[in-house]
Amino acid sequence: MSTMRNARIISVGTYVPETVMENSDFERFLDTTDEWIASRTGIRQRHIVSKELPTPASHLGREAALIALKRAGCSPAEIDGIICATFTPDYFFPSTACRIQTELGCTRAFAFDVGAACAGFTYALTIANSLVTAGQYSKVLVIGTEVISKTLDWTDRSTCILFGDGAGAVVVAGSETPGRGIVSSYLKSDGALGDILVLPAWGEKRTMQMKGNEVFKHAVRLMTDASEKVMAAAGLSIDRIDYFIPHQANSRIISAVAEQLHLPAEKVVCNLERFGNTSSASIPLALDEIWAAGGISDGTMALFTALGGGLTVGSVLVCF
Ligand code: ACO
Repeated sequence: MSTMRNARIISVGTYVPETVMENSDFERFLDTTDEWIASRTGIRQRHIVSKELPTPASHLGREAALIALKRAGCSPAEIDGIICATFTPDYFFPSTACRIQTELGCTRAFAFDVGAACAGFTYALTIANSLVTAGQYSKVLVIGTEVISKTLDWTDRSTCILFGDGAGAVVVAGSETPGRGIVSSYLKSDGALGDILVLPAWGEKRTMQMKGNEVFKHAVRLMTDASEKVMAAAGLSIDRIDYFIPHQANSRIISAVAEQLHLPAEKVVCNLERFGNTSSASIPLALDEIWAAGGISDGTMALFTALGGGLTVGSVLVCF
């Protein structure tokens, strides 16, 4: 009897730029307060690239990937593929993944970007899972990297306060260990709701525009639904989860989703207080903290769920 091939996350690495922007820094140029931002979003600070000499997304992604490779004990030459989720690429092409490939020296790898906004990491991870379980590729780097500060209208107080820059990467590797790896995943999009969260590629106003209340409402509904669907696909009840690691957009969105899923607060990972919304980097940034604190061991179950512009929603259930 042939053994079923699984795709396991064997390491994580993250990187954020040095510069920290506190909520109080916004008070100098916007009609806002630290208190308003912290109470409405849960965010207290975020890391951003230098305004004068912005670090490109490929550099942040490369640094995160280097850490993930080192922790996996894996050389760049062993990597079969790089899938990079980003909505802030260095160029339309070459892809950010190709730029990272050459900087890392992953000479054997394929490389491409995925555009699913803040749900990008769950989409990239799902693609990596399919490629690895199909048996053609053994080690794939999945990266989420964003330089969101370059896309913001810094006069729009309802949007620019939410985001931060950063990157996260995981190494996904084929494994024959039964029951370990990516257990199930669920992806769904709703293009009809595209206009509530947009970043135009052309035209005069090339900054992020958002109907915050609408995004909030749909995020709670769609993230709850995707989480339930992925658990049902795995035939497991939500009690089996050790950690719920949602996209870090707003602590009130995260609490509302956790409440609807009947998840106790101790299982819900939330670190947006220090990073803000880093889009496709937010799930690996949260995973890294849990892993570094010794929270991940053989058999630990984590549920990743994210929503992004598109709208896109993705949920991935992982058994480490
Ligand atoms: N400081 C002070 N006041 C503010 C600020 C601010 N930074 N921003 C908005 N306000 C004001 C508004 O102008 C409004 O004033 P008004 O009543 O005089 O018109 C008031 O606060 C209330 O505004 P709301 O939009 O109702 O505030 P809300 O509680 O909904 O919070 C927020 C706004 C934080 C944007 C919230 O809607 C939210 O987080 N939505 C989700 C956004 C999001 O997460 N987007 C990204 C997710 S997907 C992805 O990651 C790409």
